[in-house]
Amino acid sequence: MDFKKTARSFESALKPLFYEVVFGLFTPAKVSCVNFGYAPITPGLAAHYPNPDEALQYELYWQTFALLERQLSAQQVLCEISCGRGGGLAFLRGSTAARLIGLERSWFACRHARRRFGLDVRAAVAPKLPLAAQSVNVFLCVDSAHIYHTPEFVAELVRCLKPGGCVLLADRNRGAPDYVRKMIHKRHAAAGLTLDTWRDIGANALQALYLDEARKQQLLRALPPLPGLRAKAENFAGLIGSQKHQDMERGEVSYFLMRSTKPDQA
Ligand SMILES: C[S@@+](CC[C@H](N)C(=O)[O-])C[C@H]1O[C@@H](n2cnc3c(N)ncnc32)[C@H](O)[C@@H]1O
Repeated sequence: MDFKKTARSFESALKPLFYEVVFGLFTPAKVSCVNFGYAPITPGLAAHYPNPDEALQYELYWQTFALLERQLSAQQVLCEISCGRGGGLAFLRGSTAARLIGLERSWFACRHARRRFGLDVRAAVAPKLPLAAQSVNVFLCVDSAHIYHTPEFVAELVRCLKPGGCVLLADRNRGAPDYVRKMIHKRHAAAGLTLDTWRDIGANALQALYLDEARKQQLLRALPPLPGLRAKAENFAGLIGSQKHQDMERGEVSYFLMRSTKPDQA
């Protein structure tokens, strides 16, 4: 019996439960975003923040959304995959006329996003996207795609995008920036998408993690003393000294922004 393999599949079976615990049971009500953040902050956006404590998290949304470089009309659809508790989408609502849709696997997070922000959030487990073919102008995905960024996911993006539509991603992956960029370029090109923008934001994400350490330490105090939960949550949040933080500091994990576009003629 391969114990390592069994332990890994046990852990991945428990992953959905972890998200429910993180988003539902022990996350303080005012928390609206769960991502590593981006620094420095763009001045002048605070009026749109759903929660002033999360400026670094909204900034990551702002930087990702800025990759679009065009306005969307009220007839167009922007869909966030893994919108979590909805804070990022609610923040962007002040900057776009587009119809907003959120997709999310956590039941508690969906409920929070709907009740607090009145967002149209639908239950979804990526890589499958419960959307009609050619129904979305822009997909946005922040700090989540590494969980399911498979060829099947890219095929789903292509299926659901309108011709000329695009995917805006903020994410991290194991490997140096150039290696990760080439790998994603290859995967998207194979599905017919063009990777037209790429930014290495490792230094911005690390700076955000340092600036956010005290706030996150405070949030984690709400966790119950269940065995292993605190260490797992510290790693999930990228606290200083955690495996994820060390991997980023050593350059073993890259953090990037990217835009990938579907050709005008499908
Ligand atoms: C790090 S959080 C980011 C949430 C949000 N984008 C934000 O920045 O606040 C990762 C999110 O991905 C969601 N998630 C994990 N696996 C998923 C899947 N297979 N399909 C859809 N959402 C998923 C989690 O429930 C969680 O909301």
